[in-house]
Formats: sequence, structure tokens, C-alpha cells
Amino acid sequence: MLTRWAILLVVLLIASTSGASAHGVADDGQITATLRVLETVVIVAAVVLYARGIIRIRREIGSDRVISRSQTLAFALAMSLFVLILSPPVDEITDALFSAHMVQHLVLILFIPPLLVWSRPALVAVWGLPRRWRKDFATAGFMHWLRSAIYWLMHPLIVAPLFLGAFCFWHLPRPYAWALSNEWLHTAEHLSFLVTATMFWTLVIEPSGRRRMGYIPTMLFVAAIAVLSGLPGALMILSPVTLFAAHGHASVTWGLAALEDQQIAGVIMWVPAGIFFLVPIAWLFFKAMQPAERRRAVGHAVSIITVVCLLPVTLTGCSESTSDAVRSSNRALARGKVLIGKYGCGTCHTIPGVDNATGHVGPPLAGVADRIFIAGMLQNNTENLTKWIRDPQSVVPGNAMPVMGVKPGEAQLIAAYLETLHDEK
Ligand code: HEC
Repeated sequence: MLTRWAILLVVLLIASTSGASAHGVADDGQITATLRVLETVVIVAAVVLYARGIIRIRREIGSDRVISRSQTLAFALAMSLFVLILSPPVDEITDALFSAHMVQHLVLILFIPPLLVWSRPALVAVWGLPRRWRKDFATAGFMHWLRSAIYWLMHPLIVAPLFLGAFCFWHLPRPYAWALSNEWLHTAEHLSFLVTATMFWTLVIEPSGRRRMGYIPTMLFVAAIAVLSGLPGALMILSPVTLFAAHGHASVTWGLAALEDQQIAGVIMWVPAGIFFLVPIAWLFFKAMQPAERRRAVGHAVSIITVVCLLPVTLTGCSESTSDAVRSSNRALARGKVLIGKYGCGTCHTIPGVDNATGHVGPPLAGVADRIFIAGMLQNNTENLTKWIRDPQSVVPGNAMPVMGVKPGEAQLIAAYLETLHDEK
């Protein structure tokens, strides 16, 4: 039911515009009239083919499993928009106003192609062909080549420059003026928008479900395109002079100076168009977060976020732990020195760095770190030095150094300080 209403709507719209175009023929010239007839034929053929395809699919496969109602509606909407923006009244405004012309271009790039892509016209059109043609078409030798050519052309690194190239090229002052002065070029301009934008939106939407890129890479792809496609708009806004003079002073009849018209066009190209790209970005993000995709996407996201977040943390962590170590070792050395004072080692030893450590009962401890043996008996290492400090009598029974009840932890701190005492050279 919905399908039939949609088709009826499109046919009515087409009828109304072709009627209206008859009035414009006289002053638009021969080329415009020819082009209008061509456009009308193409649109009518497309609508008929799509409608036949939908009816066949319903009849032979049944239900709307292959093409949903929303997809049929999208096609109807795309065709209606097409008819509307190419209709003579709109044409008249876009001829006079640069800003209106930019709206028309944005509809051709941002609205019609995604609707078309979503409606899967190629699939439906094949069903719309007579049965015999359909079979010939499917088995034709060139189909193989066509498919691989399309696959190659649809590479994101080919689609991106084509899309941006067409978008930026035709919105430069010179090419823009050429297109305005020649109806064939103007049609070529619109066609190049339509084709490259359809390629771009196919990569974004992928209605067949066989995605060329994952959701997250596609999201980044759209974001990059969104930023770069803002450049022509920026040029129009920021330019202090009228760059797009092709419209002459026609804008004055609409109450706008040419420069104002250009600035409005720039704002339209930059701001709403830029914001519009947030829709597919949000949609792709939502898709990426769905259960099946979530695990993979979350996996990627988590690893990226972890790396990004932990990098500074690990860096500061590392530097903190290093400085901590330095600080704590300094503190340990100070503690060791205090303990040496507390146990009165200085009464029998001269110890550099320790106050009043000037005793001569035992050997001077300056350079003790470089001695090979402790008391000529124990190999000089941390463990043995600690042992000596705690219990010198067990190492050399009867030597003149008393056991002073130094606790193990304290002995370690004292040993650590003594190990800083090297021979002065
Ligand atoms: C009553 C005096 C006396 C006190 C107090 C004393 N020592 Fe000694 N210390 C000696 C004598 C004597 C020796 C030599 C022992 C030997 O070589 O047989 C010695 C040897 C040492 C040695 C070995 C030196 C070497 O060249 O081999 C170290 C190390 C040492 N003492 C550290 C300490 C520390 C640390 C303290 C404080 C906790 C301390 N001593 C307190 C008398 C003392």
C-alpha cells in the first residue's frame, strides 16, 4: 500500500515539473529543454524499474524481507527530492542566488545519495528487468569484469579522493563559473556529485551487510571527509571579496549583496553540512556498540584507550618510583649515619661524615667500602658487613670490638652508609 502511494507521489511530482518546464523552454534555450527531457526520462524509467522490481520481489519471494518498507520509502523520497531540486522554480532561484545553489548541491550530495543507497536500486532494478534479460544479465561474461571493476573503484582510498575531488573542484570559483555558463557542464557537475556521493554513502551504509570497512574505521573515514569537505565553505566565508561572481548581481533582486550571498553560501556549506556528518558518525558508533560488534570494537577501543591513558601514568609512575627510590635511599643513608652516632661507633673509629667520630681504638673506616676483607677475615660484602656490625665477636672471637646489640634492620642501614665510604683518590 505504502509503495503504491510513494510511486503515485513521484509520478505526480514528475508530471507537475515536466508541465512547468514547458513554460521555461522558450528562454532556457534548446539545451536546457533537451536536458530536461532527458532528466525526466531517466527519472521515470528509474521509478518504473524500481516499482516493477519491488512488485516482482513481493510476488516471487514474498514479504518485505529483501527490501523493507523503509527502503521503498527512501527511494520514493530520493526521487521526489530529485524532481524538486531540478524543477524550474527551484532552478530559477539557484540561478539567481549562490546560497540557494549551494543548498541544491548539498541535497544532491548529502540527502539523495544516502536515501538511494539505502533503497538498494541496483538489486531492485535487476528484478524489475524482464525475466529473460535478468538471466542473460546474471550470466553475461562482462558481469565478472564489471563486478571486479566496481570492487576496485569502491576502495576507500579511491572513493575519498574522487568524492572530495568532485566536491572541492566544482566549488572553486573558476570551475563553478564554467558550470554556470554551460548547461552540459552543469549537468556533468551534478552527475559527478551524485556518482561520487553515492560511492561514498555506499561505503558508509553498506545496505548489503558486506562491509568494506569495520564500523569504527568507517567512522574515522566519515570524520576525515567531514573535516576536509568543509574547506570550500571556509573559503567562501573568509574571503573578503566576491569570488563567485558568476551569478552577477542577480542576488540584488533577492535583497542580498553578492558578497553577503557568498557568505551565506559558505555558512551553509560549512556548518549544517558539517553537522550533518554527525548523523552517520553517531549511527556507525551505535552499530559498533551492538552485541556482535561490541566485543571486537570494545577490544580495539579498550586497547587504544589503555595505551593512551596508561602512557602518562606509567611514565609518571616510573619517574615517581625512581625518585622514590632515590629519596628513600637518601633517607636510609641519613638513618644509618644517625645510628652510627647513637651506637657510639665514633668513639673507636674515625668515620667521615659523622660528627665527633674521631676514635682510634679500631681502624679508621674511611675507604672501608674498598677493602677486600673485613677485619682481615670476612669477604667484604653487604651481608658480611651487616653480620660484623651485629656480632663481631662471632667472626673474630676476642677482638676489641664489642657486641653492641645492633638490630638486624639497623645493621643494614649502618652497612649501607659505610658502603658509601670509598678511598679518596
Ligand atoms: C670499643 C671500640 C669499638 C667500637 C665502639 C666499635 N668498633 Fe668497630 N672495630 C673496633 C676494633 C678494635 C676493630 C678491629 C677488629 C679487628 O680487626 O679484629 C673494629 C673493626 C671494625 C670494622 C672492620 C674494619 C676493617 O677495616 O676491617 C668495622 C667495619 C667496624 N669496626 C664498624 C664498627 C661500627 C659500625 C661500629 C658501631 C656500631 C663499631 N665498629 C663500633 C672497635 C670498635
